[in-house]
Amino acid sequence: MNSHQAAEATRAVTRDWARGYESQHHEYTLELSAAEGRIPPELHGTLYRNGPGLLDVAGVPVHHPFDGDGMVAAVHFEAGRAHYRNRMVRTAAYLAEQRAGRPLFRGVFGTQLPGGLLTNAFNLRLKNIANTGVLAWGERLLALWEAAEPHRLDPTTLETLGLDRLDGLLGEGEPFAAHYHIDPACALDGGQPALVNFGMRVGLNTTLTLFEFGPDFDLRRHHAYQLDGFAFLHDMAITPNYVLFIQNPIRYDPLPYAFGLQSAAQGLRSLPDAPSTIIVIPRQPGVGRVRSFRAPNGFVWHHVNAYEDRDDLVIDSIWYDSYVGISPETDFRTINVTTLPPGRLARTRINLRTGSLERRFLGERCCEFPTLHPAAVGRPYRYAYLCAGDAPSGNAHLQAIWKVDLTTGAEQLWSAGPRGFVGEPIFVPRPDGPTSEDSGWLLVMVYDAARHESDLVILDAQQLHAGPVARLPLGHHLPHGLHGTFRQAVSR
Ligand code: CO
Repeated sequence: MNSHQAAEATRAVTRDWARGYESQHHEYTLELSAAEGRIPPELHGTLYRNGPGLLDVAGVPVHHPFDGDGMVAAVHFEAGRAHYRNRMVRTAAYLAEQRAGRPLFRGVFGTQLPGGLLTNAFNLRLKNIANTGVLAWGERLLALWEAAEPHRLDPTTLETLGLDRLDGLLGEGEPFAAHYHIDPACALDGGQPALVNFGMRVGLNTTLTLFEFGPDFDLRRHHAYQLDGFAFLHDMAITPNYVLFIQNPIRYDPLPYAFGLQSAAQGLRSLPDAPSTIIVIPRQPGVGRVRSFRAPNGFVWHHVNAYEDRDDLVIDSIWYDSYVGISPETDFRTINVTTLPPGRLARTRINLRTGSLERRFLGERCCEFPTLHPAAVGRPYRYAYLCAGDAPSGNAHLQAIWKVDLTTGAEQLWSAGPRGFVGEPIFVPRPDGPTSEDSGWLLVMVYDAARHESDLVILDAQQLHAGPVARLPLGHHLPHGLHGTFRQAVSR
């Protein structure tokens, strides 16, 4: 391929990817059937996933996909059948804008109101768009957005029941992050599972609140910390005794936002010469102190996992060379991602006794949206599953599912390319054993640009290269998503 052909191929992939960000205006309730393979009859439970459903408000396009109104999709599996439903999260902002027939709010990541400076100046109202994550815990199903309180949904119909302040635990507008983690056997709670989440209020300094809940959403631990300066923390990682955050060197200049020149997140700037900081907080309040460790420069959205290894803490994350925002004059739909820094899998090892820290890259393939076996969260583990580029290096759109054996370095890849794009894989353990850590399925939503439709693809986590166990066409497209979860059915 010559350079002209390569450039045209890149443009074609970009066009395909951008179509996957067209709004989905319809809400469906469907039985899915397999166009390939068959649904494993032992697969029993519900996949939930969240992401932007509308990428425009009354025809005015959003400037950043993270500003799209949240849409939750659910696929319920039982006895070899699959039932699908997608619903908008009916947030107050969504309902108000649909009624008004025009945008009323500015988006965090870039969407400005039409009307320019005068409309945007000092209009600091942000929209809680409930589009980032989804949590099924206790009786609740919650649509999450990291900068405000969650929305509660009916777990079966996905009807929006309203804001959920967790029985008064959260104040008005108080954030409950989109990246909770579930400790499968919490030592502090006698081995019961625990839900661990955080909330972050940013300003000149940052207040970080940690929450832990028992299986009935009963509050077990709740504590707050002040961090020096501005922190942009999207994800965290847990071990049996600690919560870990990576605070990247980011400066925030709020003035252009307040004056209406740009969106809140467009005030974020990577500081190229400053270190990152790894913050280690004991999960048991009042036991031990908060510690911070100097780490290399870079930017992290997501962690795969963390664990304790004698004196060491190990945290695996996707590292970028710097934060990339979308400037006011750029249309995200046309960005040539091959010019941007790739996210790469890296393992950081911290010695708690000596304070030394070492980061080692585990591969050159660009990747994002890591997952693992839910029973391995916070423990030494062997397998990571990620969305990845088709090529072994360089930045690209995420078209493949990549399995990495962290013990041997062996890899497997399944690609939805050249015209398919993958979302976060969700690992579902086989209910009937064997107990091998990769015994289970990966549920992956795939957008196929050739048909402008999405498919739910089921892969065998032990043999990605064998191709799908089943492919279930939705018959419509679901815009590229963010995060999801699987609720195993309780066996009776
Ligand atoms: Co995320």
